[in-house]
Amino acid sequence: MSKFIRAKIALFLTSLLVSILVMSCQTTGQTTVPIAESQPPQAITTAATFPPVASPDEELSAGPARLPLLPYDYAALGKAIDAETMKLHHDGHHASYVKNLNDALKDEPDLQKSSVEALLRNLNDVPENIRIKVRNNGGGHLNHTIFWQIMSPEGGGEPQDEIAAEIKETFGSFEEFKQQFNKAGSDRFGSGWVWLVRNPAGKLQIVSTANQDNPIMDGAYPIMGNDVWEHAYYLRYRNRRGEYLNNWWQVVNWPEVNKRSLVSLNSSKSS
Ligand SMILES: [Fe+2]
Repeated sequence: MSKFIRAKIALFLTSLLVSILVMSCQTTGQTTVPIAESQPPQAITTAATFPPVASPDEELSAGPARLPLLPYDYAALGKAIDAETMKLHHDGHHASYVKNLNDALKDEPDLQKSSVEALLRNLNDVPENIRIKVRNNGGGHLNHTIFWQIMSPEGGGEPQDEIAAEIKETFGSFEEFKQQFNKAGSDRFGSGWVWLVRNPAGKLQIVSTANQDNPIMDGAYPIMGNDVWEHAYYLRYRNRRGEYLNNWWQVVNWPEVNKRSLVSLNSSKSS
């Protein structure tokens, strides 16, 4: 066999090998499962740091979310909030958050099995096309559910029991705590909330959140919160948010606040 024929055979075999390799790679590429499909969808889990939030022993259902009944009459908090505001706030605003949350989750059966708290703690696991709706309306549902509970017609006065001692220890006095809380509520630009939370270190802290965000989104436990959206006070107080913040202390349900504080304290000690 001449050198020329041997060279042609070697060239043919090399080409054949290269072709086989290329075909092999193409076949593999066609059958590769996209990364997003190859991983099972992540289950939404609750961060274990703190217990249920909307009430001390129970999370809020997302399948479906339901508007809670007001635990008193519309006029019952008249020392601080008028009946018309209460009716619009509960039957109008809060009801809309519940409806909009259910609308956002209507095609998401797996998310409906989650709690509202878990959805908010794990917003990155919520599909992007509904994430803002879940954040705003899930937060609105959660915030207002807490809000109705931590107010009472028999509320007001000085805090009692363990929360009284912890407020004094943390802020120096109840008066100083109120001042700092009111200032944070006044300083919240636009719409939002002012909160007393137990932070991830287990300490009491005053924070404010924008829009309908809830402190659980930052790993804290909301013990009590006041709504500083204009819809919470404008009919009676007009633009005088500071006056509303001052009067609101007359309806704070301290036994409920104390219960929420103790549950979060015990949880932070055990975690
Ligand atoms: Fe509100």
